[in-house]
Amino acid sequence: MTEQSQKANIGVVGLAVMGSNLARNLASREGNTVAVFNRTWERTEALITEHPEAGFIPAKSYEEFAASLSTPRTAIIMVQAGRGTDAVIDELTKVFEPGDIIVDGGNANFHDTIRREQAIRETGIHFVGTGISGGEEGALNGPSIMPGGSDEAYETLGPILESIAARADDGAPCVTHVGTDGAGHFVKMVHNGIEYADMQLIAEAYDLIRRGTGKTPAEIADVFDEWNKGDLESYLIEITAQVLRQTDASTGQPLVDVILDQAGAKGTGAWTVQNALDLGVPVSGIAEAVFARSLSSKPEQRQAASDLPGPDSEDWKPSDPDAFIEDVRQALYASKIIAYSQGFDEIIAGARQFGWDIKKGEIAKIWRAGCIIRARFLSRITEAYEQDPDLVALVLAPYFRDAVAGAQGAWRRIVVSAAEAGIPSPAFSSSLAYYDGLRAKRLPASLVQAQRDFFGAHTYKRVDKEGTFHTLWSGDRSEIETEPSWH
Ligand code: 6PG
Repeated sequence: MTEQSQKANIGVVGLAVMGSNLARNLASREGNTVAVFNRTWERTEALITEHPEAGFIPAKSYEEFAASLSTPRTAIIMVQAGRGTDAVIDELTKVFEPGDIIVDGGNANFHDTIRREQAIRETGIHFVGTGISGGEEGALNGPSIMPGGSDEAYETLGPILESIAARADDGAPCVTHVGTDGAGHFVKMVHNGIEYADMQLIAEAYDLIRRGTGKTPAEIADVFDEWNKGDLESYLIEITAQVLRQTDASTGQPLVDVILDQAGAKGTGAWTVQNALDLGVPVSGIAEAVFARSLSSKPEQRQAASDLPGPDSEDWKPSDPDAFIEDVRQALYASKIIAYSQGFDEIIAGARQFGWDIKKGEIAKIWRAGCIIRARFLSRITEAYEQDPDLVALVLAPYFRDAVAGAQGAWRRIVVSAAEAGIPSPAFSSSLAYYDGLRAKRLPASLVQAQRDFFGAHTYKRVDKEGTFHTLWSGDRSEIETEPSWH
């Protein structure tokens, strides 16, 4: 067979680092032949020159790209989310036919994915929004993959995605058909929200240890390496230790000390919180992580506020540094459990709202390897949902309940210490506040209801009677108890 007549079973459009690495990953798996296309030919040329072993079929136009694919044609778009994606979809729909499959592997907003899927469905072409996690390294060697779209499209796509996905310890590929239309991108969005919370919690732990014990970043790396042998074992803890050990080539300083302390964000964390607000799900740990990045990136405000009075952490030292570090570890674990519990709450609420049949245990399974939030305790999450698929909240599963119960003394000491020392710990403290709110027998929400009824006649319900009530609050009549609402 000549190279020209050979057809590819999968194509990749967009050959920046993520796209190139994914294409190389695909090409390295038995049975795959990969067609590649990029808006500018130079990039395609560079890829095929640098990687002759991949046997790519390069295309110079969308027509050529479509012609190089066997049917049903399957193409993965790996371009920056947003308008670029729409432009590529437009071009592909012109050259593809009914039954072909367009996969968007970028970090798309799931609302866009729902819209695109609906629009494309009319043409008979399948559109599959797919979350792909694992960064550049994951794309090359095995990411965690979260596809949405139709069952029919998944029949063709599933085996291809399984061939490139990361493998968990039990050998299972880290990919599952999450649900229809935007379900894959929705779950990837929540993954990223949890990623934000996890990163912020680790950063707070580092800050507390550094300011509390005076340990150097390299010494804290040793602490994290130790933590990585236990319940906290995760990719993010592992890379944090590596980051903290890195010195700056030009100054010899720890690199973390020469990096500007202003965190960027591409938007998926904010989407997680925006959608949680719409769904009425309190993802407070994730929200604090997003806001912590926003606060960090306001240099003028921070400069102007830097002489505001408050304790100086320089004057504060824990009496037993080793015990303090152990407390931080436990506080981190408890807060992390809350972040995941909140994230899964959002997945449950999203599935209900958008009509997706999302298997929570399966999601925890495909996050066990390949993705940024991969962690030892994900198998505990799978177990929890396998034991009780209708679990009301993850933190209520026996393992997690015990873990938080065991850690909560330390968790409270850390939040108190941070407040006393003036060390910001928004994710630690909001997670604890959430936990206490969740377990409270009675909340001051009754007062909020009364206030609402006072100024807006918004009515309230009573603990002792059925019905809806409104109190006539003003003047003499304030003594009139309640009456059924006319709202
Ligand atoms: C992943 C990452 C990936 C990316 C995020 C980071 O799962 O591989 O989450 O998607 O690194 O977009 O986003 P921020 O720039 O918002 O931190």
